[in-house]
Amino acid sequence: MNILAIGAGGFIGRHVVAQLLEAGHRVTVFQRGHYPPPEGAREIRGERDELPQHRRIFAALAPDAVLDVIPYTEAHAQALVESFAGLCPRLVALSSADVYRNYDGLRGYSRHAPDPPPLDEDAPLRERWYPYRGLPGPALPWRDDYEKILVERCLRQAQAPQATVLRLPLVYGLGDRQRRLAPWIVRMLEGRPFLLLGERQARWRWTMGYVENVAAAIALAVTDPRAAGRTYNLGEAQTPTEAERLRRFGAALGWRGELHVLPETRLPPHLRLPLNFEHSLWTDSGRFRSELDFRDPVAEDEALRRTLDWERAHPLSIAPQEYAAEEAAARTSSVVPLVDDVV
Ligand SMILES: NC(=O)c1ccc[n+]([C@@H]2O[C@H](COP(=O)([O-])OP(=O)(O)OC[C@H]3O[C@@H](n4cnc5c(N)ncnc54)[C@H](OP(=O)(O)O)[C@@H]3O)[C@@H](O)[C@H]2O)c1
Repeated sequence: MNILAIGAGGFIGRHVVAQLLEAGHRVTVFQRGHYPPPEGAREIRGERDELPQHRRIFAALAPDAVLDVIPYTEAHAQALVESFAGLCPRLVALSSADVYRNYDGLRGYSRHAPDPPPLDEDAPLRERWYPYRGLPGPALPWRDDYEKILVERCLRQAQAPQATVLRLPLVYGLGDRQRRLAPWIVRMLEGRPFLLLGERQARWRWTMGYVENVAAAIALAVTDPRAAGRTYNLGEAQTPTEAERLRRFGAALGWRGELHVLPETRLPPHLRLPLNFEHSLWTDSGRFRSELDFRDPVAEDEALRRTLDWERAHPLSIAPQEYAAEEAAARTSSVVPLVDDVV
């Protein structure tokens, strides 16, 4: 197939492109040029806000499918549809599990009771739009208007091209620039004798996906016509509790320390998260797996091994004051036992 991939030179996109190329597809990446194009891919340089101005170039390319890795706003989705109407039969767009109402509950913005996990694609969506508007964070031009719910709605309403929406979990692994798992991994790599985890967080579940597995799922959605018009959650088949996940990281690393679970109020401030862990982000990727006969190509142990090797090669440092505060908290609080069947 002839595939155009918008914004596919970054963390997730590079892995998708590599897998599509390996399967023999032709891939062209549309990006600004801050990143080198993935090896073997062709590149069209451009700014996504000017997508419709490239319509003639896209017409000449005549892609069989377009993958949009970076649709963040309703305007992005509208421009995507407008740019490819009549030029290409299939669009695939990356969305996020942050569309679910539990995401707002987790952040303390919802008055609803937690929706029971695992969340499938029909679980209730957030009622409050623009989750990052006005909040501190990285200065990104689309940040205030970020809303995957509106991206999805716009794509679903477009009659042609037929859109596939993929709701991604937390993605980790080689090339991860957000490094959300690094603070745990670094502590293990540095041989800390214990790791502190809040009691509620220890029992909480957040579906993740190893990047090469998520990329394989995206590549399948792009190339398999059965995915046309469908919305899917992606992510690991089994989502462990956070405590269990840390144990697995520890085992993969040969870490000899212990996990100390404390009441959230006894954690040092840098570990206390302003989140309501009654609201789970455990999502169910069963629809994707059964409809498209998908299996993760990289087993969990191997995914962990590759991730840990990459983290070792890209170490972050932890401020000594954090370790001092953790030691003080561990001295003054007793550990909460976690019953195995809860984990
Ligand atoms: N990582 C996660 O845990 C996670 C979870 C849920 C959903 N997602 C979704 O996954 C996607 C992010 O994928 P990623 O991590 O691979 O992104 P990334 O690492 O930020 O890469 C972004 C790519 O887009 C290009 N790009 C950025 N701004 C552009 C613009 N204005 N015009 C043209 N090209 C532009 C970049 O290259 P240039 O700078 O050269 O243009 C780069 O190739 C998003 O849709 C996100 O919502 C991720």
